[in-house]
Amino acid sequence: MEKALPPPYAPPAQRRPRSARLVLLRLPILVSLACFLVILYGFAFGQGIDFWQAYTRDNVSPQTAAALAHCRALHVKPGPPEGFDKRTQSDRYVPGTKAYLLKNAKIWTGEKNGTEIFHADILLDKGIIKGIGQTARNLYRAYKEDIVTIDVKNAWVTPGIVDLHSHLGSASSPELEGASGDDNSIHGPILPWLRVLDGLNTHDDSYALSIAGGVTTALVLPGSANVIGGQGFTIKLRKTAERSPSAMLLEPPYQINSSFPDVDGPMRWRQMKHACGENPSRVYGNTRMDNIWAFREAYNKAREIKNAQDTYCTKVEEGRFDEVAHTPFPQDLQWEAMVDVLRGRVKVQVHCYETVDLDDVVRLTNEFQFPIAAFHHAHEAYLVPDTLKQAYGHPPAVAIFATLARYKREAYRGSEFAARILAQNGLQVVMKSDHPVTDSRYLLYEAQQAFLYGLPENLAIAAVTSTPAQILGMDHRVGFVREGYDADLVIWDSHPLALGATPKQVFIDGIPQLENPVITRKPNAFQRTPEVPNYDREAQAAVEYEGLPPLEPNQATSGTVLFTNVRSVFTRDGFEVSETFSAQDHEDLGVVVVRNGTIVCSGHNAACLTSSLVDEAQVVDLVGGAISPGLTTFGSPLGLVEIDSEASTNDGLVFDPLVDRVPSIIGGDAALVRAVDGLQFGGRNALLAYRSGVLNAITAPVGRRFYAGLSTTFSTGALSKLDEEAIVQDVNAVHVTIRHFGSAPSVSTQIGTLRRLLLDPPNGDAGLWFKNVAEGKVTLVVDTDSADIIATLVLLKREVEVRVGNAIHLTITGGLEAHLLAKELGQANIGVIQVQSRPFPTTWEKRRILPGHPLSEESSIEVLLKHNVTVGIGIIEPWSARNTRFDVGWIAIDAGGDISRAQALAIGSTNVEKLLGGKVGTATPSAVDLVATEGGDLLDFTSKVKAVISPKSGSVNLL
Ligand SMILES: *[C@@H]1O[C@H](CO)[C@@H](O)[C@H](O)[C@H]1NC(C)=O
Ligand SMILES: *[C@@H]1O[C@H](CO)[C@@H](O)[C@H](O)[C@H]1NC(C)=O
Ligand SMILES: *[C@@H]1O[C@H](CO)[C@@H](O)[C@H](O)[C@H]1NC(C)=O
Ligand SMILES: *[C@@H]1O[C@H](CO)[C@@H](O)[C@H](O)[C@H]1NC(C)=O
Repeated sequence: MEKALPPPYAPPAQRRPRSARLVLLRLPILVSLACFLVILYGFAFGQGIDFWQAYTRDNVSPQTAAALAHCRALHVKPGPPEGFDKRTQSDRYVPGTKAYLLKNAKIWTGEKNGTEIFHADILLDKGIIKGIGQTARNLYRAYKEDIVTIDVKNAWVTPGIVDLHSHLGSASSPELEGASGDDNSIHGPILPWLRVLDGLNTHDDSYALSIAGGVTTALVLPGSANVIGGQGFTIKLRKTAERSPSAMLLEPPYQINSSFPDVDGPMRWRQMKHACGENPSRVYGNTRMDNIWAFREAYNKAREIKNAQDTYCTKVEEGRFDEVAHTPFPQDLQWEAMVDVLRGRVKVQVHCYETVDLDDVVRLTNEFQFPIAAFHHAHEAYLVPDTLKQAYGHPPAVAIFATLARYKREAYRGSEFAARILAQNGLQVVMKSDHPVTDSRYLLYEAQQAFLYGLPENLAIAAVTSTPAQILGMDHRVGFVREGYDADLVIWDSHPLALGATPKQVFIDGIPQLENPVITRKPNAFQRTPEVPNYDREAQAAVEYEGLPPLEPNQATSGTVLFTNVRSVFTRDGFEVSETFSAQDHEDLGVVVVRNGTIVCSGHNAACLTSSLVDEAQVVDLVGGAISPGLTTFGSPLGLVEIDSEASTNDGLVFDPLVDRVPSIIGGDAALVRAVDGLQFGGRNALLAYRSGVLNAITAPVGRRFYAGLSTTFSTGALSKLDEEAIVQDVNAVHVTIRHFGSAPSVSTQIGTLRRLLLDPPNGDAGLWFKNVAEGKVTLVVDTDSADIIATLVLLKREVEVRVGNAIHLTITGGLEAHLLAKELGQANIGVIQVQSRPFPTTWEKRRILPGHPLSEESSIEVLLKHNVTVGIGIIEPWSARNTRFDVGWIAIDAGGDISRAQALAIGSTNVEKLLGGKVGTATPSAVDLVATEGGDLLDFTSKVKAVISPKSGSVNLL
């Protein structure tokens, strides 16, 4: 408690004497300080003492001087120093950086509530935005040759993206034990004294990747394993000449080295992580009651210190120096940050999900009287906006994911409509990455999805720029395109809310970050604000049903359904997808007539609109939409896992003979488990996938390490296994995993096991299936990413084929390094299901990703396709099955016309089935379920799925 801290300002004896007049002159400048000064002045003159002169006198004792400095500092509020907006150079300016003139920009400035769009030039110099429009042109003349001029040709320019919740550098990538786990201490639930800065790894591969997505600033927070996990820090992502973590900091609080400068200026904002609910509970075996008590105990401790300081300073400020002469200023190094929270000088960032947790923390803020900056994750915040508004001081912002939900109880009621509902209730909305939970390179995609589901355009762009800048306390320099602001800008290749928007260049502190950016030209339509569907009804239902609106499909009331204003029709025959109808223009839109779930006529109106065909039809206007075959998801345990972290909702893990003793009653080592036996139906992830046009899922059993088992194909829209169409295919393929597990079994053991299973199959079930694989009758699917392991598998395939005498079907899933062996994979006829479609180097064996635009000429998927490798895409977690259509649409956009819509659809459907031993390829077109979308085709970001046409069940489901 009595640990000495240096006074937060240099003792007054060293200050230049200050006259009362000077102080008076400054009064109007700092409003918050002014109130305090006015009161103090009144008091001091009332006592007949010139208080400030007393305290700036050179002849006070050092102790009194220190006491005065401490007490004065208590009233200083954080914020930019006086005159900051007049600065001519950034503190982060790197000498030698060239000036840049960006001509003809279409600027989203952040002004006017995010509605201002400005067509103008921007001049960058000395690390700041020197001028916009006329100012830029006036200043430009002075530069002569020492300026780089770039004509951005009417490209969209936004402020750099600001990520309010990141673990960049503290949970770094690729994961290595020496550097990845620096975000959570396990030394107790209350650790406000820890600083994420102390573990900030400068070699995280993600910095460069996230910059390539436009991220320029991030708040790096401690993890959520603690109730109070410690202090976060705001960084700029660019490389610095110093190469140090400290050099990355943006306006670090002076507390990092107690270097309080000799100025009257304000403090700098500090950041503190809090967490409630499951995460801190899990680590310490706590209940929610324990967590909140831990908070209250900590806050009570901080309040005691604060009160002691205030009592002490009342004496000092009343001039009763004798009474404090022999008492040190009450403070404690461990608790000083918490005392600062109570003084309103810390942005408190609270990880908190459920209604009960939000309510607890709001109560806590009122009991101890401190404001909080934002609730993070907060999956139930949209259900209790009024509770949030009762928080002490001001309503917190809400920092959320767009569609990442249902991974634990706390997230089960999460809704894609949360952002719009929160905004409608007047709460500030921030979209955040929680990097590497989601890859912050695609933080803008979170904003795009929020926009798609109804967050207004201005707020959606602000949700990753101006709003987080403000919540961080950094909106005096980042988050806007404003004269005098940090020169952090992104030049985009499309409207920022168009799917696939990619930076053409990113400036941080005026320094261009992309060395040789690769850009493809996008069609003009991409430059406009995307037109989004209406989701009012769905958003209302989300609130009405407290996050669990019914998702079951409704069957059309009439046996005949007439789809009008159809722009295109895609059908599939076997494994081939083709476009069978395509309207040339708006006048040319067609119709599709469906009877008992089967298309009976499609094409131009005249041909189909006969009374015999459409009498008593239910009409669905597709508004220029399309009919396409449904997509197929693979990679996640969809159907086996409902709430990932709730064991009671999941199938569980299969035994792995390489690490477990497999019970002999199931066949011992020769057991091979079937996913179909564990399937559950009607889950929310499955039904949301169905409603997004992902009609089939292929799922393998969940293994511990090497062994998985036999995969199955099921219909995501089925409500029971006994429904006629629920199981599409009992058994698809044999699945194993070969990875660097870091312990037994070694990679060589896993390869050795696979070789033996193929060449010398044991007796029993496993033996039979591997014999079928060796004979080319069943597909073998190996989950792996490492190019070295893939190379070994190419050789193993050859070896087996030579020995057995026929070709075997081998598919790689994962495959993030497969592009390195594209040629060999093409020659060996080995297909790849890339998981995920947008690669990220999570682990060492995935580190050699091909990142795609703007960092590389081609994406890994394009490289594989070019070498005639059959490619599909997959996902990791069940919640993201619903986003498959955007994953595929994004691939099509990136390919810039090199692949057709039909080919793209195949990457998300038929290719996946073919590579996983699907027999649906043999089905006739009349047996394939189709998806009807309004306002675009299935791969269009802004289309809406309206119906599923099912010849198999003889009906149309309306969604
Ligand atoms: C900002 O924009 C949102 C959405 O367009 C609107 O609802 C809100 O009222 C605006 N706020 C102000 C202060 O104009
Ligand atoms: C303290 O840290 C700040 C910010 O990094 C730096 O500018 C300053 O030089 C440091 N002071 C000392 C005494 O190390
Ligand atoms: C459609 O199904 C209904 C009910 O099963 C049946 O009565 C009717 O004949 C079918 N119509 C056609 C055109 O197959
Ligand atoms: C891929 O297949 C096409 C068509 O069969 C062929 O023309 C081309 O040479 C092949 N490319 C490679 C790299 O094998």
